[in-house]
Amino acid sequence: MKIGILISGRGSNMAALIDAVGRGAIPSAEVAVVISDKADAVGLAGARERGVEAVVVERRGRTREEHDAELIEVLRKRGVEYVCLAGYMRLLSNDFISAFKDRIINIHPSLLPSFPGLDAQRQALDHGVKVTGCTVHFVDEDLDAGPIILQRVVEVLDDDTVESLSARILEQEHAAYVEAVRLVASSRLRIEGRRTFLIENEAVGESNS
Ligand code: GAR
Repeated sequence: MKIGILISGRGSNMAALIDAVGRGAIPSAEVAVVISDKADAVGLAGARERGVEAVVVERRGRTREEHDAELIEVLRKRGVEYVCLAGYMRLLSNDFISAFKDRIINIHPSLLPSFPGLDAQRQALDHGVKVTGCTVHFVDEDLDAGPIILQRVVEVLDDDTVESLSARILEQEHAAYVEAVRLVASSRLRIEGRRTFLIENEAVGESNS
């Protein structure tokens, strides 16, 4: 399974995925390329240090469709089958979503459908929830809305700031993203409407034979 990762910034989830592939925690997966829409994304260096090709594809005043067409081309040239969004802070066009239908995965720092969009951790604090967390989900045409693969819960503490809460969520994000991509790579996930189900091992064998 060839994976392409899209980033816009720090790239810690990207690094967690590349490192997991490197230590064999996601069998049969390979990270073929990392693409950033920002030339100064810190994650670009992190990808290169890990021996993964890192490419910048900036928007440069083009329409979303034109920008995404270049992304699709870069990904296809490298044989990418699955796209992981890791802090990619741009909406994808419908063209992109159809090009990788049911094969785009995103991580979001809240328990969706609560707190979609920007500043999810601040939204959780402002709302006063007692638990929040992170969600790994397939991407569809709506913002932070596709079928959920898995979620991890993080308690909100009385003295939490955006920074302290974000740090604890991020720790869970790294583990959750690796686990979710491992499930997808194992072909044991079935999407049915808004829900995803884990197929038992025997059933996977039958469907492969
Ligand atoms: C992560 O917390 C990720 O969940 C969030 O941006 C951060 C990126 O960190 N993504 C979103 O909010 C997407 N809606 P990273 O660059 O270190 O992986």
